[in-house]
Amino acid sequence: MDITWDKLEYTIKICHACRLAEARTNTVVDDGNKNAAIMLVGEGPGRDEDLSGTPFVGAAGKLLDRMLASIGLDRTNVYIANIVKCRPPNNRTPLYDEAEACIGYLRAQFLLVRPKIIFCLGSTAARHIIDPEFRITREHGFWYERKGIYISSTYHPAALLRDESKKREAFEDLKSLREKIVELNLI
Ligand code: URA
Repeated sequence: MDITWDKLEYTIKICHACRLAEARTNTVVDDGNKNAAIMLVGEGPGRDEDLSGTPFVGAAGKLLDRMLASIGLDRTNVYIANIVKCRPPNNRTPLYDEAEACIGYLRAQFLLVRPKIIFCLGSTAARHIIDPEFRITREHGFWYERKGIYISSTYHPAALLRDESKKREAFEDLKSLREKIVELNLI
């Protein structure tokens, strides 16, 4: 394999494969532990992430940290990435062609990290990773297995900030993530 972190990070930094490059301040590649067994995938950078270059540092990120803490995790034992590496205007959902232009970078991240679990945060990640028809309200918390990798999802933390009533279900998903980690002996 000739892909390296340095090459990947540089390629993303100079990427102009889609229109999102035009308005970005920073590309946002990842955070957390590059050797983690658990990979979290969000949608794309928001304003705080665009300014800082780090995923999930705004309000949704603070909630994500609390969600992780509720099952004994933090950014030292997970790897965090997004479907797109540049902020969509006004935080809209990335368009299909934008996600397609960027998904190769996520694949490279996956190949470098080699996680045992992928946990999708929200429907955009689940649609690009699990199934294009994925319905987060119906299918969050379900587990899928592909080539020995376990994949599941929960609501995006920003969605939980908008609708607190989903938090109980999200906590069930997190408990299920914790159980899978224990079952697979990952921590
Ligand atoms: N929302 C995301 O999906 N990713 C981030 O990095 C921040 C907010």
